Amino acid sequence: MVKKIWMSGAIIFIGVWFLCSCERQNTTLTNKIHVGVAYYNQSDTFLNEMVACFREKLDSLKDKGYDITMTIRSASGSQRTQDDQVKELIDAGCNVLCVNLVDRTDPSEIIDIAKENDVPVIFFNREPVEEDIMQWDKLYYVGADARQSGVMQGELAVAIIKTNNMIDRNKDGKIQYVVLEGEQGHQDAIIRTESAVDTLKNNGVELEKISYGIANWSRAQAQNRMVQIISKYQNKIELVLANNDDMALGAIDAYKKLNFTETDFPVFFGIDGTDAGLAAVLDKTLSGTVYNDKEGQAAAMAKLAIRAASKDETKDDKYVYLPYSKVTVDNASDFLDKPNTSYN
Ligand code: GAL
Ligand code: CA
Repeated sequence: MVKKIWMSGAIIFIGVWFLCSCERQNTTLTNKIHVGVAYYNQSDTFLNEMVACFREKLDSLKDKGYDITMTIRSASGSQRTQDDQVKELIDAGCNVLCVNLVDRTDPSEIIDIAKENDVPVIFFNREPVEEDIMQWDKLYYVGADARQSGVMQGELAVAIIKTNNMIDRNKDGKIQYVVLEGEQGHQDAIIRTESAVDTLKNNGVELEKISYGIANWSRAQAQNRMVQIISKYQNKIELVLANNDDMALGAIDAYKKLNFTETDFPVFFGIDGTDAGLAAVLDKTLSGTVYNDKEGQAAAMAKLAIRAASKDETKDDKYVYLPYSKVTVDNASDFLDKPNTSYN
């Protein structure tokens, strides 16, 4: 009798042990996720912050039992370099790729090689045309709606112009403005400019465009362009609309460099809510920005990446757009300490 009980106990123990070890083996098999990240340029502030956020997100998921590794490459603005980097990432064993294209109209090499190797691709931030995304069911896009950011920037400017009559410094009833644009051909640049300007006009603000500069999202290039524009128009400029925070900060740098007194500064608006952008909103050099939700984008990418790499059968939407939010001095600190978006 005692022997029987002992025997069945041992059998149960062996059975449970066997089951557990099978399960363990299974989890390590399906949970091995090697994410390859390729982004267009290491000198882009927003993308550096976004990729860092994505890394943190993936690191936090290691605690939840996922076996995740991540390899990051940046392409110094060359599509050819990026194509090679993607090949290397696939050779290194990545089973999912997150790609921020250099040239958003030229993803074909990347799509072909990913397809050949059955490695899903999540494009982010620089949106390929729909026709390309539709080429294969394992292609996704995570980003944000450019129009919404422009409209919000316009609304922030309307609110300040309507409540502060010092902005129309020459009192001619019009706002003399300059636009600093990101890259030519980039969806976020063209659409942000158009929708910000339209929003101001639709809200009854009379505008006069003084000049514009293309500054490739860069603070240093924006400063240079702005120094040239100021040299020509002196203190005529009342408003600077920049397609991103770095360029708005570059414009402020230009006024400081030229030793303008603050009363002769125009008002500046950016987009992104980078660390430096939020700090400038808090110290009131930047009148407002629009938060580009990197935490939300990182969480959406992590979710898709894990499902795609572990060959989860769930049918995910091919497009994920995270909403923007308006940022002023009143709420900027909330964004500065924004926690990572939770994964579900
Ligand atoms: C935009 C962002 C810019 C720049 C650009 C690069 O969404 O606002 O700062 O990072 O993407 O594609
Ligand atoms: Ca004026």
